Amino acid sequence: MTTAPLEDSAGLAGKRVLLVIGSGIAAYKVLDLARHLRRAGASVRAVMTPSAHHFVTPLSVGSVIGDLVHSELHSLTGEAEMGHIQLSRDADLVVVAPATANLLARMAQGIVDDLATTVLLATDKRVLVAPAMNLRMWLHPATTRNVAQLKRDGVLFVGPMEGSMACGEYGPGRLAEPLDILEAIRDALRGDTRVPLPPGVTGRPPELAEPSLPLAGRRVVVTSGPTQEPLDPVRFIANRSSGRQGHAIAAAAHAAGAAVVLISGPVALADPPGVDVRHVETALDMRAAVEAALPADLFVAAAAVADWRAAAPSREKIKKGDADEPPELRLVRNPDILAEVAGRAGGRPRLVVGFAAETENLLANASRKLERKGCDLIVANDVGAGSDVMGGASNAVHLVSRLGVETWPKMSKAEVAGRLIAHCATLLDSKP
Ligand code: CTP
Repeated sequence: MTTAPLEDSAGLAGKRVLLVIGSGIAAYKVLDLARHLRRAGASVRAVMTPSAHHFVTPLSVGSVIGDLVHSELHSLTGEAEMGHIQLSRDADLVVVAPATANLLARMAQGIVDDLATTVLLATDKRVLVAPAMNLRMWLHPATTRNVAQLKRDGVLFVGPMEGSMACGEYGPGRLAEPLDILEAIRDALRGDTRVPLPPGVTGRPPELAEPSLPLAGRRVVVTSGPTQEPLDPVRFIANRSSGRQGHAIAAAAHAAGAAVVLISGPVALADPPGVDVRHVETALDMRAAVEAALPADLFVAAAAVADWRAAAPSREKIKKGDADEPPELRLVRNPDILAEVAGRAGGRPRLVVGFAAETENLLANASRKLERKGCDLIVANDVGAGSDVMGGASNAVHLVSRLGVETWPKMSKAEVAGRLIAHCATLLDSKP
């Protein structure tokens, strides 16, 4: 007898996923996805758009998820049923698969005309979208615009893939494979999936409002991600920073009630909702964006800024030519943004936090960096081979200040961010 391998439940056990099933030939694959989710210990609820019924039946979806499938906005008002608001809130993540061009357009515009779009507008959780459509529909400028808008709104995407389509054409537009969607769900669930309300809005009547948030009324500027320093129009110097830690810090500062400006180098992450994100490429752009974003109460330099840039980037693509000699690369120092902000004579943020990514002598190097850069706190982490910090989901850090060193256990980057922001809020409150 053969036994099916146990589904890898890491990150999924006990999680609640709301599947919004759109129409399309690929809708049948969602049954597979729901099966994987259930085997991994997640609970699944499902909403189908009216046209999805042409491709998959509520009965088949219902039997996989072990629950009623919801389709009608108005059938949810009965006493035995839950309301659409509750349906949208009782999930850790909302997953739209397959997402048609029409559904993406309605989402991008905030149009609400069925239960699926109502739930998508009312949810307080992050939304992950797996598009599937004909390649021309996917490549149409209107869809490109809608996708860009949704990404700016913090919506996450998986796929589409390139491949043969039901219509006989070949190209991008196929629904991502169920296992790839499963991985994207697992990834999304690693972070905090709650979408905060704007600062000052609690969603509760004043008598039930929570005590004021720890960074309410504060202004926070965060740098994140790598910088890219051009050598010529097609080549650049960069590094492995994913921006995950910096973005998580910006999100945590926003959740703590601050007005946050995030200055991000080129990353593959969605903009954190509610945060004013300014996208830059080079260290010089990042410095100018930081200058423009100041003053602030708290400055966190989490970006991996390139220390060097080409002295004279070539206007034209550098050609190999016939010579064997490689071209000479002359580099010049980039400004140290953290040191400049910490050393400002007027308008220095009350608290300036830097990062130290080290591969050896972690604490000694971090203490030297604290002094050399003149900041108040250094978050030191070991990025040596095998540490999996650069680009990974977790981090083990030491907080180095003039008072000593505090070592935190390994935790997710979202947890590091939450604790760091709580720590900074306490420091700001105690600083004159
Ligand atoms: N930093 C910065 N501007 C730079 C270089 C670094 O703002 N041009 C900031 C980073 O955002 C980080 C801190 O300085 O908060 C430490 O960066 P790191 O690259 O680890 O240190 P370096 O100053 O480059 O020192 P070294 O290369 O010797 O490790």
